[in-house]
Amino acid sequence: MATLAELAALRTDLDDPSIDHLLRLVASWSLLADLAFSDMLLMAKVNEDGRDDEHFVVLGQMRPNNRTTLINDDLVGTTHRVDSWLLVRDAFRRGARVVGELAIEHVSELVPVWCVPVRFKGVVVAVLVRLQGPLRGSASLYEQSYLSVFRRLCDMVADATFPYREDTVAGPGLPRVGDGVILMDELGRVEFATPNAVNALHRLGIYTAVEGRSFADVGLKARAIERSLEFGIPSLEEVDRGHDVAILFHGVPLMAVGQVTGVLTLVRDVSDIRQLNRMVLNKEAAVREVHHRVKNNLQTISSLLRLQARRSEEVETRIALHEAERRVRSIAVVHEVLSREPGEEVVFDEIVRSLVLLVEDTVLALHPVEIVVNGELGVLSTDLATPLAVALAELLTNAVEHAFTDFGDDDEHVGVVTLNLYQEDGQAIAEIRDNGRGLGENFSLDVPTSLGLSIVRDLIRAQLYGEIEMKTVPLSDGGGTFVRVSVPLTARL
Ligand SMILES: Nc1ncnc2c1ncn2[C@@H]1O[C@H](COP(=O)(O)OP(=O)(O)OP(=O)(O)O)[C@@H](O)[C@H]1O
Ligand SMILES: [Mg+2]
Repeated sequence: MATLAELAALRTDLDDPSIDHLLRLVASWSLLADLAFSDMLLMAKVNEDGRDDEHFVVLGQMRPNNRTTLINDDLVGTTHRVDSWLLVRDAFRRGARVVGELAIEHVSELVPVWCVPVRFKGVVVAVLVRLQGPLRGSASLYEQSYLSVFRRLCDMVADATFPYREDTVAGPGLPRVGDGVILMDELGRVEFATPNAVNALHRLGIYTAVEGRSFADVGLKARAIERSLEFGIPSLEEVDRGHDVAILFHGVPLMAVGQVTGVLTLVRDVSDIRQLNRMVLNKEAAVREVHHRVKNNLQTISSLLRLQARRSEEVETRIALHEAERRVRSIAVVHEVLSREPGEEVVFDEIVRSLVLLVEDTVLALHPVEIVVNGELGVLSTDLATPLAVALAELLTNAVEHAFTDFGDDDEHVGVVTLNLYQEDGQAIAEIRDNGRGLGENFSLDVPTSLGLSIVRDLIRAQLYGEIEMKTVPLSDGGGTFVRVSVPLTARL
């Protein structure tokens, strides 16, 4: 379906500023439909090569929220012969509101119709048609008041003062007529407030009767509404009471001959929505806090292990405790990242950066070693990120720790460990390559008795359903060790 802007550009002679004016009108005309309890149509003249007042095109259609519609069809984009819409033609010609009756398809009786000229820069650019549904008995006091406000807004449409130039106050989420209405006179005194609006005031702690009083009189601080009254500009303001109550006020200034004659204030209790938002925020903060604590606890554990390592007499025990400390810390790295950005997913590259620093800082190598990271894995699920991070930490540690043991303090040889990361065919791939001595002749990944590679095997194969390949690179290709880890991105624990 074509948009109003497309229809107007294609089927009418309207220029862009006029089309913008109509767009602003339809952004806020659900208010008109609700105040009038009526269906609304926006009609413009069709440009048909010189026969330009032969047909009208419907640019917009709005149904009331508080009544059943008279028109079941979608009329937007349809064209109509002028002789079936003479009232619209008259409104265009006379530039004034035309009231009459019209025969509508599927409706047995004639329908009361108002045709309101939409003026922009002195020219009638379109006609707003109100198709009035059957009245339900005699109109109640509120209905009469709504209709009188509707009449005033129609005059403003014809005067080009509605829609307002300020198009910032429009769109979904705004209070509607059904949410609550307060009408004020030109001095800001309340003429009437609907029961819903009164309820909303009660929630703000205002129990005095508001009729005849201004907001300031009853102790309601709504600066924006006061500005609407003073300067004739629409406004939107949220008034809170403690943490639990939030009421949204939408001020619609009513004008006549350049003077503000009153303000229609639509009122909506948004406490529930605000509370929901707060709960979501709170939950996120809680998850973040949990990760933060887990990280702190892991750091405490690693500090304890370090202390114990220092105290032990036996070298072997000391090394074992050091290793355990390092492993605990590589898990803490993941929680550190999660404490900043909690969720199901985590930016793995941040984890990699921290892991590299961790390995560089903690692994003792006699030989200078540089770790280079290429590529990235992007965002990974946390289920995958934690085991993968621990496995990578083991493999990087091995490279720094074992690859260069034969080189001693040979300054000619620069130890380089390269970590390549990328995604391919739904797999996260990590390749670790060093330019060291390579794996021993009897090395087999499947029979390690040592802890490090057992951990890697268990995490990658059993937990992440992935694969590991480890081989010595022939000297002709630069030597050293090459490790390739691949895990399906969908891996779940
Ligand atoms: N990049 C590498 N270059 C050379 N040798 C390696 C490399 N990676 C692993 N190795 C060899 O494989 C062995 C097993 O490694 P593994 O990580 O399982 O044990 P570890 O590092 O000796 O002890 P830890 O349990 O503390 O990790 C190492 O002792 C080392 O000899
Ligand atoms: Mg190891």
